[in-house]
Amino acid sequence: MEVIRVEGGHPVSGTVTVEGAKNSALKLMAATILAPGVTTLENVPNISDVHIMGKVLKELGATIEVVNAHTLRIDTGNVDSWETPYSLVAQMRASTAVLGPLLARFGKAIVAMPGGCNIGARKIDMHILGLEALGVEFDVDHGDIYASAPNGLTGTTVTLDFASVGATENLIMASVHAKGTTVIDNAAREPEIVDLANMLNKMGANIQGAGSPVIEIHGVGELHPVTHAVVGDRIEAGTFVAVGGMVGQPITVRGFDPQHLGLVLRKYEQMGIVVQRGEREVTVSRTRELSPVDIQTLPFPGFPTDMQAQTMCLLSVARGACVVTENVFESRFMFASELQRMGSDIVIQGHHAVVHGVEGLSGAEVRSPDLRGGAALVMAGLVADGVTTVSDIHHIDRGYERFVEKLQALGAHVGRVSIPDVSLEDYRQG
Ligand code: UD1
Repeated sequence: MEVIRVEGGHPVSGTVTVEGAKNSALKLMAATILAPGVTTLENVPNISDVHIMGKVLKELGATIEVVNAHTLRIDTGNVDSWETPYSLVAQMRASTAVLGPLLARFGKAIVAMPGGCNIGARKIDMHILGLEALGVEFDVDHGDIYASAPNGLTGTTVTLDFASVGATENLIMASVHAKGTTVIDNAAREPEIVDLANMLNKMGANIQGAGSPVIEIHGVGELHPVTHAVVGDRIEAGTFVAVGGMVGQPITVRGFDPQHLGLVLRKYEQMGIVVQRGEREVTVSRTRELSPVDIQTLPFPGFPTDMQAQTMCLLSVARGACVVTENVFESRFMFASELQRMGSDIVIQGHHAVVHGVEGLSGAEVRSPDLRGGAALVMAGLVADGVTTVSDIHHIDRGYERFVEKLQALGAHVGRVSIPDVSLEDYRQG
């Protein structure tokens, strides 16, 4: 078993470059199904979730050439299957992103029903209701979703109950060839949705309004393959910005659009972090103690749920109390109980967390509860007294490329360490 071992209290400073966005790359890979032939994706992060999406596409009949660490050539010309098994969906819920493209290309799809995950139930009812409005029929049998549109899809207006990222993306991809115009009302506005629409428009689709709450998709004929570079990862960037805020010494984060972190950076400024915005980079530093600030997560341009754990880490050592409210996912406070093992003072009440800042954190053995929570625990270890070991680091590898190496390059005393593959309890007992 591998754990990440962090020795707290060492200077951490310098420049770090982020990769392409995980949440965009996964959907762009699924979207290649819509343009039979060879699409080249650049700036693809080399992370385990991307590897799983690669397996999903191969299962469908695509071939993938890894040109270099960040460039994939995906040939979907020979895709001849429309079935995604539970073995893959269980590894990564975003596998369901192939539902829309398969329906658009073949008029049918079989996708395993996703189960629960560490951050909540994550239903796909809005995907299904929206697709039904476009003429798709659904049947659920033995845990698989059978979707078919024998008469093709027909454009209509779909109003989402909640600005779901995944539902917006599946509806965009499903409707590129639909008859007439599809309108998605209360659509998600995340930068990754804009990236998807940009690539599809390059392929010949006609999508207007991505990035706003109303997206219009005018159905067109066949799409053609393109070359497209994935947008920079605002959440990886935000994580390193949070590291900078935590350690206090200047850190420059490159390779993304600072506007994609608009509210996060403004909140961090209110906390006393100095933020200098550049064209494709920000530099953060701090000369005074952190101040508490209330946070509530919301769909973009609200405060991202994917930055909640890293921000709670900062707030756990701020001078005073504040409330963090999680509105997007249930069960996304599991990270807080691990942080409590490091001496933080956090009380969870439903979807609110009351955080009382403490003088300092103390190194401990903690478990990564999910992707962002895992990264936040490593971050906490950087300022904690003594040594912190974070286990279950496969969560971190899902979404951060070379996380440990990037922290090492900033001067952090951090490393991946193999420990005997015994239970953590045995390990603790020595
Ligand atoms: C995506 C991101 C994830 C991010 C989230 C919110 C990917 C691979 N993941 O997840 O990192 O945290 O957006 O920004 O892009 N919901 C329903 N029914 C549905 C769909 C969603 O009830 O049909 C609920 C979910 O359970 C959740 C909330 O809506 O509570 C938001 O989900 P959604 O925006 O769809 O997130 P994902 O696309 O799963």
